[in-house]
Amino acid sequence: MPITAVTGAASGIGAALSQQLCDAGHTVIGIDRSGSDVNADLSTGEGRRSAVDQVLAASGGVLDHLVLCAGLGITAPNCGLIVAVNYFGVTELLDGLADALSKGTQASAVVVGSVASVQTGADQLPMVEAMLSGDFDGAVAAANEDNNPSMAYAGSKYAVTVYVRRKVRAWAEQGIRVNVLAPGVVETPLYKASTEDPKYGEATRNFVAPLGRGSKPEEAANVIRFLLSEQASFIHGTVLFADGGMDAMIRPGKF
Ligand code: NAI
Repeated sequence: MPITAVTGAASGIGAALSQQLCDAGHTVIGIDRSGSDVNADLSTGEGRRSAVDQVLAASGGVLDHLVLCAGLGITAPNCGLIVAVNYFGVTELLDGLADALSKGTQASAVVVGSVASVQTGADQLPMVEAMLSGDFDGAVAAANEDNNPSMAYAGSKYAVTVYVRRKVRAWAEQGIRVNVLAPGVVETPLYKASTEDPKYGEATRNFVAPLGRGSKPEEAANVIRFLLSEQASFIHGTVLFADGGMDAMIRPGKF
């Protein structure tokens, strides 16, 4: 049965996915700040290295699947942390675990992005350029200077999506498929906190998908399991929106 590592496994989408994978007989290595198989703070370089080392030890250096769910929303304590976890907490784990995945069976990884990545202006932010060039300190400083949580979130999700798409050839050569799931609203603690935010709460509550509801974490987990599975064996470098129609509503002419 596959060995799957899941970041953000203690809550929301990552918890729902871990449960589904365990029910399906996978060996799941959960990674989170606390209360998981691997406890590490993905906002720090030391924490990210420790997470990689602990996953390698727990898996024996061979992984079949990796899912990067851990993330911070707009209510994070500061914008630098959003960038640290949502971008570097994804890319450094993918890079650090790529060799283990290359030894796995029908290896695949899924990054949880967001429909926020298509927000106007997200692609133009100085912090995005810093993220994509691997400049941790520069990206965190730019995000903190901007001090706009909504744009830091959108920028981090845009950058991590571009990162995946730029590396399709390299990962294919290692026998690893990697895709991005872009959810819209998923009813998790992260989303609930956003709806209660004094500045962004009202806009968050009013941004409703054409389907007229948010999704359950299990619905996002279902899509991740599909992308990981052999049913998705020719899907690589794709951004799959599971957003109740939000992306199509915002920008029908772009896809
Ligand atoms: P959540 O808050 O329920 O779960 C996120 C998990 O990430 C938590 O267990 C948290 O402890 C972990 N995490 C955060 N910072 C960490 C750190 N420094 N080190 C280790 N773990 C850390 O949130 P949810 O909604 O399940 O989010 C999962 C992913 O889905 C995130 O990347 C989020 O940006 C994304 N997403 C969520 C949407 C939503 O409406 N809930 C919409 C679009 C994307």
